[in-house]
Amino acid sequence: MTQTLTRGQARRFYDRLGAFQDRQAFYEDKALDVLIEHGKFSEANRVLEIGCGTGRLAARLLSDHLPSSAQYLALDQSPRMVSLAQQRLEPFRERAEVRLTDGGFNLPTAADGEPFDRVITTYVLDLLSDDDIRACLAAVRGALSAAGLLCNAGLGYGSGGLAVVLTTLWQSAFRLNSHLTGGCRPLELENFLEDWQVVYRRLVVSAAITSEVVIATPGIDQGFNAR
Ligand SMILES: C[S@@+](CC[C@H](N)C(=O)[O-])C[C@H]1O[C@@H](n2cnc3c(N)ncnc32)[C@H](O)[C@@H]1O
Repeated sequence: MTQTLTRGQARRFYDRLGAFQDRQAFYEDKALDVLIEHGKFSEANRVLEIGCGTGRLAARLLSDHLPSSAQYLALDQSPRMVSLAQQRLEPFRERAEVRLTDGGFNLPTAADGEPFDRVITTYVLDLLSDDDIRACLAAVRGALSAAGLLCNAGLGYGSGGLAVVLTTLWQSAFRLNSHLTGGCRPLELENFLEDWQVVYRRLVVSAAITSEVVIATPGIDQGFNAR
């Protein structure tokens, strides 16, 4: 069985990591560019992000990609990350809220009010246990509108040259002690998306580290053909 960090271990790890999380930008940013390019954010009015970290992506989306009327709810289970994200999103306080969670996935459901147009998960599903990934995706399904999109980026499996070597090294480090990789391991998200429609998937390699970008909808085909 995959030995992921417990919720408590992950909270303590990311509380300690704090703003150093943003140093992962050297490999994350290329995948986030792809996610933004294909996530149709200019059409999104209600956005939920799970595991927002320091709020780096939220600030970018609110500043440059979402409609000026869009509302953003960012969740994280690390008090330190929530505090950093709140500071970063202060200029958008009318539209953005950052909330601390207990690490569970008790998300607002579509039935509670307006559903979300986008739910964003970046480099967070890849640190959850398999059971938590399933629980999270079930909750995301309940929170999204029928035409809404799950927009995910996370560690993927390298498929050639140095990227394969790096994937193998990453997996070994994770197996040795999952704290070494911040709890993250390569994931093929489609294995968890049997009842979703994946509308876009791409592997992105940056600094020999492979990320997987996946966009999926719980509803009908939105006419994507960019796989
Ligand atoms: C690797 S960081 C990624 C942060 C950010 N999404 C990014 O790409 O820079 C993972 C984040 O997920 C948060 N996290 C981990 N488990 C979580 C859970 N069960 N619920 C909410 N947030 C969680 C951590 O506190 C941390 O901020």
